[in-house]
Amino acid sequence: MELIRAEHLAKTYRTGEIDVLAVKGVDFTIDAKSFVTFVGPSGSGKSTLLNMIGCLDHPTSGKLTVLGTNVGSLDRRAAANFRGEHLGFVFQDFNLIPVLTVYENIEYPLIMVQDWPEDKRRKQITRLLEAVNMSEQAHKRPDQISGGQKQRVAIARALATNPQLVLADEPTANLDHDTAYRIIELMKKMRDELGTTFVFSTHDPKIMGEAEVIFTLEDGRIHPSTGKAVAHHA
Ligand SMILES: Nc1ncnc2c1ncn2[C@@H]1O[C@H](COP(=O)(O)OP(=O)(O)O)[C@@H](O)[C@H]1O
Ligand SMILES: [Mg+2]
Repeated sequence: MELIRAEHLAKTYRTGEIDVLAVKGVDFTIDAKSFVTFVGPSGSGKSTLLNMIGCLDHPTSGKLTVLGTNVGSLDRRAAANFRGEHLGFVFQDFNLIPVLTVYENIEYPLIMVQDWPEDKRRKQITRLLEAVNMSEQAHKRPDQISGGQKQRVAIARALATNPQLVLADEPTANLDHDTAYRIIELMKKMRDELGTTFVFSTHDPKIMGEAEVIFTLEDGRIHPSTGKAVAHHA
């Protein structure tokens, strides 16, 4: 099943007099339950692409379909609802809420984004804490755990609402290589167990080999020998 389809997708940023062509008309599809990476140097368009898929930024032209929805046509409110219902996010700098415990950080989207009853929340959080091997740290705060542990919590939080798609923009950029590798392995394990599609970006060639589908970005374009291109029927 196809989860994401980009057709001639482009994004131009207008900054004063200058147009920055961040994504220059890309075509690709991503299947449900796949484990996909966008690789490329800084400035190649990875974040722009992930932000469009995550409904955080609007395409300038072309078409982007995520879970059957033409996300380019969503207004701010509809995009926010779409994100809350279907998507999870993992960030480079973890983005945990410092005053909340590990448990409460995972609980946060279940209260603030969705509205799960307490009993259902507790079951879900307990299950996810076990899955990311953080049960023992449940009552610690982010400043009391390591970077790798923070990212494990962030993965659990991203999965809390049972999203179909998790987007992770350079989730290992602030981790040493061994920890980075383990974080990618954990995401893959969660994909295997839950069937959640993971799309992550990285500029680290050692990490990208863990993905099943690799799209290489170069200056806003997908290198034709990578990933899976969409065949266009005129
Ligand atoms: N908000 C923005 N305004 C103007 N230019 C931007 C903005 N975001 C990204 N860019 C530019 O778009 C290009 C792609 O950036 P980005 O998607 O962040 O690449 P990557 O994540 O691969 O480093 C770069 O030239 C960058 O400077
Ligand atoms: Mg980036």
